[in-house]
Amino acid sequence: MNNGSMKAVGVIPAKREVALFEHAMPHLSAPTELKIKTLEVGICGTDREICSFAYGTPPCGSDYLVLGHEALGEVVEIGPGVTRFKPGDLVVPTVRRPCAHEHCPSCRDARQDFCSTGDFTERGIKMTHGFMTEYFVEDQVHLNIVPPQLRDVAVLVEPLTVAEKALAQVWQVQQRLPWTNGSTSEAERGAGKTAVVLGAGPVGILGAMALVVSGFKTFVYSRSPEPNPKADLVNSIGAKYISCATTPVAEFARQVGRIDLVYEAVGVAQISFEVMTVLGLNGVFVFTGIPPHQAAIPIAADSLMRQLVLKNQAIIGTVNADHHAFTQAIRHLAVFKQRWPEALGKVITGRHPLENYRALLLGKATGIKNVITIG
Ligand code: BGC
Repeated sequence: MNNGSMKAVGVIPAKREVALFEHAMPHLSAPTELKIKTLEVGICGTDREICSFAYGTPPCGSDYLVLGHEALGEVVEIGPGVTRFKPGDLVVPTVRRPCAHEHCPSCRDARQDFCSTGDFTERGIKMTHGFMTEYFVEDQVHLNIVPPQLRDVAVLVEPLTVAEKALAQVWQVQQRLPWTNGSTSEAERGAGKTAVVLGAGPVGILGAMALVVSGFKTFVYSRSPEPNPKADLVNSIGAKYISCATTPVAEFARQVGRIDLVYEAVGVAQISFEVMTVLGLNGVFVFTGIPPHQAAIPIAADSLMRQLVLKNQAIIGTVNADHHAFTQAIRHLAVFKQRWPEALGKVITGRHPLENYRALLLGKATGIKNVITIG
């Protein structure tokens, strides 16, 4: 790094290249902006998909897009209008930036996760550079402060926000019936209810932790047969791992009993729609996975429709996360760390230098969450 440029990893879609290149050092350009030194960046399926050029758009006027949307950084410089942060603070940025349209009520209300025009941008994904670089500049409204005790796990905040936004919607949607016992205490809201998590990747495992902490009896239904490290991790937090390779859906449903909530974090339609057929009365099913475009598969659409109606079921798709979800994720991570320090630590299976980007982005996916350590 020198004053003019720094290292960054990104994609050059026109050349179908993934590369480590020099990127201009950013500077504060508004009073409410901060300069942040990147400490860690998590790698997820979206990054890998961008590297297959199925997704991802550079900013206007740039032929490349700097990757990275799961970041932890340290504030190194603040503008004169910054009120909520000081140098040395640890911060996690949100991902989505609002569209510019006056007629988008969501973006005008800082709810760009529900942008109604589609003209939002996303750091490291859509038309705004990401965080897989040494420094970045951000407005204070897009940053969340993280307590220093969470330094070693805070890179998991963004993937945990997927579950937090999903849960916030589950509580809202289920207000349509007397679903909870009226308790607002976190430990009781899911008590007496059964949740199923599909998939044991980082979004699934972190989601399972959030569900257990919220009181749900929680099952994780995933492919790999036992024994395997993900199953051990899941079982160690008081959830139960069941493999769909050895336990078919009907038998799974028999073992689990009535399913009140399905949290899909697998990104595969086949198993998701099969599990939808065993969702219980008044149940809610939340999709978070983004499958690649593939050939159509047959589903029992009439019986599924009949079931959705006769059982009062709700199906939700959710993407991105608002500030509230980030705040909840930071709060929950502290709870997880206290309750399951070892299991939480195991979610991060590898820390790597930026120079290893090729293997991480283009090689075989391994472990649970791989992280690039920069600062
Ligand atoms: C990110 C979201 C983003 C979505 C779609 C996910 O990987 O976590 O913030 O909205 O991709 O681009």
